[in-house]
Amino acid sequence: MHSLTLRRPDDWHLHLRDGAMLKGVLPETTRHFARAIIMPNLVPPVVTGAQALAYRDRILAALPDGAPFEPLMTLYLTEGTDPADVVAAAQSGLIKAVKLYPAGATTNSHGGVRDLTRVYPVLEAMAKIGLPLCTHGEVTTPDVDIFDREAVFIDTVLDPLRRAIPGLRVVMEHITTSEGVAYAASGGADLAATITTHHLIINRNHILVGGIRPHYYCLPVAKRESHRLALRKAATSGAACYFLGTDSAPHIDALKEHACGCAGCFTATNTMPLLAHVFEDENALGQLESFTSLNGPAFYRLPANEARITIVKHAAAQTFPEKILTEAGPVTVFNPGFPVYWHVES
Ligand code: DOR
Ligand code: ZN
Repeated sequence: MHSLTLRRPDDWHLHLRDGAMLKGVLPETTRHFARAIIMPNLVPPVVTGAQALAYRDRILAALPDGAPFEPLMTLYLTEGTDPADVVAAAQSGLIKAVKLYPAGATTNSHGGVRDLTRVYPVLEAMAKIGLPLCTHGEVTTPDVDIFDREAVFIDTVLDPLRRAIPGLRVVMEHITTSEGVAYAASGGADLAATITTHHLIINRNHILVGGIRPHYYCLPVAKRESHRLALRKAATSGAACYFLGTDSAPHIDALKEHACGCAGCFTATNTMPLLAHVFEDENALGQLESFTSLNGPAFYRLPANEARITIVKHAAAQTFPEKILTEAGPVTVFNPGFPVYWHVES
């Protein structure tokens, strides 16, 4: 198959930032994607409905002319979050999810949650109205090895939480382990998981062998090869509980190529060609639309997009910009390390 027409995809986990960075990276997403769940980890974070409304306006103002793109807003959960504000923001249609960052887990998460029981009233209100909780699923306990933090989170935080608040709808964001794959499949219609493009392509060797590669460092950090293979099997299975969330997370090169480099892979530019490559490798091009365009809207109870994109496989390797030059500084585009023949034509 050399040409593939799909419903226009959505990105169910995206970092757009703000200001000059937002302006610079937004066209990379709107070129191919119709909608995206927008992460709220700005400085300061998007905590209230009023802040989400203002952030949405800034995103809409930064859109390239005529781009048909809908930002789906989220709130950053804190121990001070007011359940009534969350419910009002959801019922007005403004927000589509609330994001749980365990305090200290990743970029700008210091305002996140330390004691989960303190946000139970918010979570109970969310369960009542069916508003999904998106989880950054890593424990932050210093004595838990960074490669084990996702599996320990599932056992010690997520599973107890789902038992304590039945009916809470949860998206396990950017899963990186076979444990994550298995748990997401075990929860029925109220549990799902997003998978990033880069975690389908790299394992931890790519970050560390032959020199340290800061542009492959993200959180949760890529795990060993057996986990990458489990993620590829899940993503290409067509199962309704897995869908694309790129976690495309721009940082300027000066902060990635740094003694204490920031976490994040920037994949907005080439995600769709890379996914076509991965799905073709797995003999699963027929499942690509489920992963990028159908399973996400079904979980979020939104209609699938009516517009279509066409992805074509060319005889020659296609080129992507090495960097996006934003007014905040250059951002390196994720390099998969192999030639890619697929190109989005429309
Ligand atoms: O790699 C990551 N980058 N993981 C996250 O959880 C946050 C993100 C960011 O905001 O840079
Ligand atoms: Zn993220």
